[in-house]
Amino acid sequence: VTRARAQGGPWRPTRFTLRTPGGLSQILVGDGVLAQAGARAAARIKPGPCAVITSRKIFRLHGSRLVRALSAAGFSPSLVFLPDGESTKSIASLRSLYLRFLRARLERRSAIFVLGGGVLCDVGGFAAGTFLRGLPTVLVPTTLLAQVDAAIGGKTAINLPQGKNLVGMFHQPVLILSDTATLATLPSREVRAGLAEVVKIAAALDRRLFARVERLAPRLVRGDRRALTEIVGRAARLKAAIVARDERDLSGVRALLNYGHTVGHALEASRGYRGVLHGEAVAIGIAAACRIGEALGTLPAADAQRQIALLETLGLPVRLPPRVRARSILTHLRRDKKAQGGRIPFVLTASVGSANLANQVTDRLLSRVLDEMGAVGLGG
Ligand SMILES: NC(=O)c1ccc[n+]([C@@H]2O[C@H](COP(=O)([O-])OP(=O)(O)OC[C@H]3O[C@@H](n4cnc5c(N)ncnc54)[C@H](O)[C@@H]3O)[C@@H](O)[C@H]2O)c1
Ligand SMILES: [Zn+2]
Repeated sequence: VTRARAQGGPWRPTRFTLRTPGGLSQILVGDGVLAQAGARAAARIKPGPCAVITSRKIFRLHGSRLVRALSAAGFSPSLVFLPDGESTKSIASLRSLYLRFLRARLERRSAIFVLGGGVLCDVGGFAAGTFLRGLPTVLVPTTLLAQVDAAIGGKTAINLPQGKNLVGMFHQPVLILSDTATLATLPSREVRAGLAEVVKIAAALDRRLFARVERLAPRLVRGDRRALTEIVGRAARLKAAIVARDERDLSGVRALLNYGHTVGHALEASRGYRGVLHGEAVAIGIAAACRIGEALGTLPAADAQRQIALLETLGLPVRLPPRVRARSILTHLRRDKKAQGGRIPFVLTASVGSANLANQVTDRLLSRVLDEMGAVGLGG
């Protein structure tokens, strides 16, 4: 990851490049950068017929600015609407996307734009990566979670009835344009859920970013655009740096980004992906990992408390929701696709900003911690 040019201040747009064996992604984060979409895309892709994948709701909020920018640069966008929600990550959506691409007469070099959250980036990216064996893709993430996480790194996926993200591919977008102004319309609960992923990456990998989030926390929960722009820029850069070292998630480096996700995913699955947002489940997973590390003696109590306190300041849950049993979480943990040979690999922190893969987490310790985190204190 290289810094493309000197920056005037942290709230100014950040621009950097992610280089992987899979390709080169330009990443631009800033307040109002959507207006540059056409010109930035035209620098990488020949303007012409293209598709814009979005939902009706997101298009109503932010679509006209994107279409205007694309048209001004010589693109002729065909709009393709998908419904909002996790169930859109389906084979049925792929089929309808391919049919729309055909109708729009897209060719090998045509661009696919995705305007939306992680759901649309995942399914749209997959359709783009497979249609005609892969079209150049521009992601315009509109949720905090997608701007700091889902849009960066080239992972695309759809779900099967048997589980989440079971089918997918790596397809690096040529351009990722994160306009933090789009976050102004995002419900505050979704903003907080996205902040859980920021806490995750900072707690796992970057002590200074963690301290910065602590400092900006009150502004971030208020949706302060300057604070959000700074934090999204830093978190996106950090994620890109990790992906650059381990694009295909093979060496164990990218796996550190699963901090909080082992328990988080199991909790989501045990609730049938309803009621709890992904970021909220991750917050609970981070709290669990902190308690585990503390019990093992591998994480100082003060570092555990600091992580849990920051999650609470950000209005995120740190205890299990009502009526969730430790046993049901353990059952789902064993089904996780990342479980290898019965052992559940766990990401733990040794201190704030320093994560590692651990294999000494026993079922017994996990049940004890989950019981301690039982359904108290989380109002809904
Ligand atoms: N590919 C990856 O590396 C990766 C990483 C993390 C998560 N993901 C995936 O991302 C998905 C979750 O993404 P998400 O949290 O962005 O959820 P999402 O895409 O479902 O978006 C959440 C909600 O916010 C709405 N929305 C989006 N932008 C908005 C805006 N600017 N204003 C108002 N409303 C807006 C959406 O319509 C939706 O209802 C999951 O499917 C997860 O598996 C992928
Ligand atoms: Zn996540």
